[in-house]
Amino acid sequence: MIKKLLIIGANGQIGSELTLAFRKIYGNDNVIATDLNPAFKAEITDNGPTDQLDVLDRAKLEMLIDKHQIDGIIHLAAILSAVGEKNPQFAWNLNMNGTMNVLEVAREKGIKRIFIPSSIAAFGPTTPFDHTPQDTILQPSTMYGVTKVAGELLGDYYVQKYGMDIRGLRYPGIISNDTLPGGGTTDYAVAIFYDAVKHGKYECFLKEDTRLPMMYMPDCLKATTDLFLADFGKLKHHAGFNVGAFSVTPKELAASIRKFIPNFEITYKPDFRQAIADSWPNSIDDSAAREEWGWKPEYDLDAMTEDMLRVIGEKHKKGLI
Ligand code: NAD
Ligand code: SER
Repeated sequence: MIKKLLIIGANGQIGSELTLAFRKIYGNDNVIATDLNPAFKAEITDNGPTDQLDVLDRAKLEMLIDKHQIDGIIHLAAILSAVGEKNPQFAWNLNMNGTMNVLEVAREKGIKRIFIPSSIAAFGPTTPFDHTPQDTILQPSTMYGVTKVAGELLGDYYVQKYGMDIRGLRYPGIISNDTLPGGGTTDYAVAIFYDAVKHGKYECFLKEDTRLPMMYMPDCLKATTDLFLADFGKLKHHAGFNVGAFSVTPKELAASIRKFIPNFEITYKPDFRQAIADSWPNSIDDSAAREEWGWKPEYDLDAMTEDMLRVIGEKHKKGLI
């Protein structure tokens, strides 16, 4: 049983919600939220420990592990696909050296369990696009994807070489309504909801028929905590589990929003992110996750849309957005 968890990158789109999900499991005092940018929301600072941490600062990482007697790590700090293509060297430095710091410090200090997410960006134009298999070709065409494949391979290597417990999910695009996404290609699927509520229209940076795998945040939290708590002995895969929920195009997402906001309008102005999206799968075969640790998503497209519009609509009425 893990007693003390360190979350790195806890101020991001996923970390700001995952921290609270893990605090419900392990207790508020036992989940330490850290980030390069320590301006956490009040819900995180008020109910548990926080600290500033640059994952590239190995000495501080070691200090925090010793200080809090950490035995589990969730490493979320990364540069995502769109920002990564603007500065590939920066993305390589953070994504690879951050991951190596976490793995090496964890090895030296005998950390019991580590979670490091991968992404659908690990796939590329030579991967089968439909029902993309668990074990398949990994030849991404973005620097972000290169770092995600290398991260998966490193994780699996540390499992095999050092007997460590390392787990990871290939997250699809995550749709959420708390913290805005940090610069990915799937960010349109969040921005569309804010613009629908605020302006009744949205200009999309992808073409209308660009199909991508997506997942609503409650399912992302469930997938992550379920995998983290799964019996390691039953896992045949480790650092890069496929997980799916639903696949959608901008046109279909707009149609789903129109079920609740009938006059919603969408226009299309594709930019450099189109090429990234075109290299990623249409849909995911997640049967290994279902078989090995019981993965099952709860939200389909319309259930997600209804909930997103409800939450963002309430924020808008209160003048918060
Ligand atoms: P994000 O960009 O929203 O958050 C990343 C966080 O890391 C930010 O709070 C940032 O301040 C922090 N950070 C940046 N540099 C740091 C450093 N040097 N040290 C410590 N913290 C640093 O990203 P996210 O969407 O929450 O993604 C979390 C993880 O999930 C990443 O590994 C990402 O690749 C993966 N992922 C996300 C999605 C998605 O749709 N959000 C999809 C696939 C995979
Ligand atoms: N949401 C992420 C991105 O678009 C996928 O890893 O970069």
